Amino acid sequence: MSTYVVAVTGASGVAYAARLLNVMSSLDHQIRLIISRAGEEVIFQELGLRLEDDVDHKRRQLMAAWASHASESQLELFAPDNLTAPIASGSFPTQGMVVIPCSMGTLARIATGSSTNLIERAADVMLKERRPLILVPRETPLSDIHLSNMLSCLRAGAEIMPAMPGFYHHPEVIQDLVDFVVGRVLDRLGIGHDLFQRWGAPVPAYEE
Ligand SMILES: Cc1cc2nc3c(=O)[nH]c(=O)nc-3n(C[C@H](O)[C@H](O)[C@H](O)COP(=O)(O)O)c2cc1C
Repeated sequence: MSTYVVAVTGASGVAYAARLLNVMSSLDHQIRLIISRAGEEVIFQELGLRLEDDVDHKRRQLMAAWASHASESQLELFAPDNLTAPIASGSFPTQGMVVIPCSMGTLARIATGSSTNLIERAADVMLKERRPLILVPRETPLSDIHLSNMLSCLRAGAEIMPAMPGFYHHPEVIQDLVDFVVGRVLDRLGIGHDLFQRWGAPVPAYEE
């Protein structure tokens, strides 16, 4: 069992975050979750889930919708302005962080180390502590600014895994495309899964 920070920002594709939390929690991992205000809006626009004001209430809503099998202590939700949260410090042990989906705004702020909210600070901690930081950006087309920010993050130690599903596993439904992207993120964290059929291998190749 490991502890991961997951951040959901205001880019399209919050279904990826929902699936990632669902799988991580079913594998008994601990999740420290942060959702930006724009992320909450996209959750409403794309999934119809309107999160309430209070953090505790939000956490219960998210557990019911995305991680119903998880135990109470497995999912902790922090407000983005909570800069005193444990995950704001490198002394709090975690095994990595995923920003999924990652907006161009958050990407830019991670690239510059601005740390103005808990998402940016937790990402900055991952980079300085040399822990895995996986950014799953979604935007098209990409500007010079977007691409330079991605390169800055990559050079600082992040992995850039754009939400670009492959099609060689013969997806039939949207969930197959979501699972491909989430499965590749889990691969990078070394978390075993069977979300999609691998090229040339009929069974999942990874063991936890
Ligand atoms: C429905 C919706 C979809 C959006 N999709 C994207 C997107 O795919 N990529 C992106 O970079 N921004 C997207 N945005 C804009 C961001 O939400 C906006 O830039 C916001 O300030 C990002 O804030 P955050 O980084 O704090 O989450 C979208 C906004 C909305 C309302």
